[in-house]
Amino acid sequence: MPSQSARGLFAVLVMPLLFAASCHGGKILVFPLDGSHWINMKVVIEELHARGHSIDVIRASDSWYIKEESPFYTPITIPQDLSLENFFVLHLEKAMKAQREGASWFAHLQLMRKVMTILSQAHAVKCAMLARILDDKSLVQNLFEAKYDLVLTDPAFATGVVLAKYLKLPMVLNVRWITSGDGQSAIAPSPLSYVPVPGSGLTDNMSFTERLKNMLFYSFIVFQERFMVGPSYSAICDKYIEGGCDVVSLIQEADIWLFRSDFVFDFPRPTMPNVVYIGGFQCKPAQPLSPDLEAFVESAGEHGVIIMTLGTLVKALPDDVAEEIASVFAKMPQKVIWRHIGQRPSTLGNNTLIVDWMPQKDLLGHPQTKVFVAHGGTNGVQEAIYYGVPVLGIPLFFDQFDNLLRLQERGAGKILKLADISGHSFERGLNEVLQDSYRHNIQKLSRLHRDQPISPLEHAVFWIEYVMRHKGAAHLRTEAYRMPWYAYHSVDILVTLLAAVMVFLLSTVLMFRCLCCRGKRLSKAKQH
Ligand SMILES: *[C@@H]1O[C@H](CO)[C@@H](O)[C@H](O)[C@H]1NC(C)=O
Ligand SMILES: *[C@@H]1O[C@H](CO)[C@@H](O)[C@H](O)[C@H]1NC(C)=O
Repeated sequence: MPSQSARGLFAVLVMPLLFAASCHGGKILVFPLDGSHWINMKVVIEELHARGHSIDVIRASDSWYIKEESPFYTPITIPQDLSLENFFVLHLEKAMKAQREGASWFAHLQLMRKVMTILSQAHAVKCAMLARILDDKSLVQNLFEAKYDLVLTDPAFATGVVLAKYLKLPMVLNVRWITSGDGQSAIAPSPLSYVPVPGSGLTDNMSFTERLKNMLFYSFIVFQERFMVGPSYSAICDKYIEGGCDVVSLIQEADIWLFRSDFVFDFPRPTMPNVVYIGGFQCKPAQPLSPDLEAFVESAGEHGVIIMTLGTLVKALPDDVAEEIASVFAKMPQKVIWRHIGQRPSTLGNNTLIVDWMPQKDLLGHPQTKVFVAHGGTNGVQEAIYYGVPVLGIPLFFDQFDNLLRLQERGAGKILKLADISGHSFERGLNEVLQDSYRHNIQKLSRLHRDQPISPLEHAVFWIEYVMRHKGAAHLRTEAYRMPWYAYHSVDILVTLLAAVMVFLLSTVLMFRCLCCRGKRLSKAKQH
């Protein structure tokens, strides 16, 4: 059909020009997070660069993923006291060990406490880095003189948010988590009756006891914000921001929230006008594999391949677990590509290829890939949905259990807890996820996810340029963030109304009693 191809040509050639013409040459200051969050941010930065914007990125001197040299951005490098990479890896290994040792309630609480301690220490390290920036007079002057159009930041560590406030710039968030807890719950009404709190392992369909559990987890998060994370930021706010500030209110003040989720993945819930859902924006059509890898994948024949990776934070699985997994893989008719770092398991079969890096997206996009064994990080889960590959999930920490739960609820994945892993359970899990129903369900999610008017990445860039064009998006922001809690929940109104009703009732009762007494006295007087 010629008209369709002409339209295609129009879209390819003219649309980018229109976009580019509408807003070119903006200046953006990016304050990203390291690790897997940077993988996300980098995708947005590359797209912004391609559209002619200039980008400065604040990075720590010993940064782990954020490179000093890049064709896409200019780095602003700040010394940092402590390498967060070693810090995380060390503590997470401990946390993994604790998980293996038992799945009791107590062990679970211990683990949460540990993760919270790690996180609050990391917040303190990041705040020290921000103080170093703000104390450097010439750097601050340069930042002011650069006349940025906006700050783009990830508020899981809120240092970028405080800096945007200090520089008085519009702010766009690339967000899923804020300093403690889920981002959406920080701005949109989130009834605990059907919005599960992250970490609780609950869905949107909760029984009475589950709702009770949800409430307890919520109080845990409030506690964490007030006493473990908040104090680091309060100190910075008091010192550098005139009149002080509350970090959660600062996050709520952001102009646009580019939210790394969508409602194919997440449970439906209330949201706000300035929240833009960009889940899966990092996914692109798969590229061809390298010839070696392609040959390996094709050699699997009709059985296909299984791929396994546990993400960037885990250097090595416990040896006994790795042995069990390797022996199960050896029994499977599929070929296996396993990103495994650490000692080579002795039970490794000849169908298993061990690699220290894999082109994960291209493999997931390959029609031969049947199952993705993963830890359930947001990126991996979104990619599994985009490419339509069912997941056998081994959640390790943070949000991973909750991410995988969303797939399991839709029959598109299965969760295997680290504490429950044995050769037997792993084999059963693999065989279950290899069934057709799992593939069918995740491909349905994939079709739903891809059925959007414009791609999530274009959506993200549109809103960033929108904020540049209009110098913010304050008209989309609700007033909620300025309100004290009692006004937000109308407690003051309820108390006033209640008082009015009480006064009315009391005065009515008093009046009747008066009348009654008078009546009695009168009738007594008559009798005499
Ligand atoms: C919600 O959970 C209850 C009890 O587990 C179940 O009977 C019901 O079918 C569920 N509802 C939906 C819509 O899944
Ligand atoms: C792999 O091992 C299986 C059984 O252990 C054997 O039958 C098969 O021939 C081996 N394949 C190759 C290519 O070595």
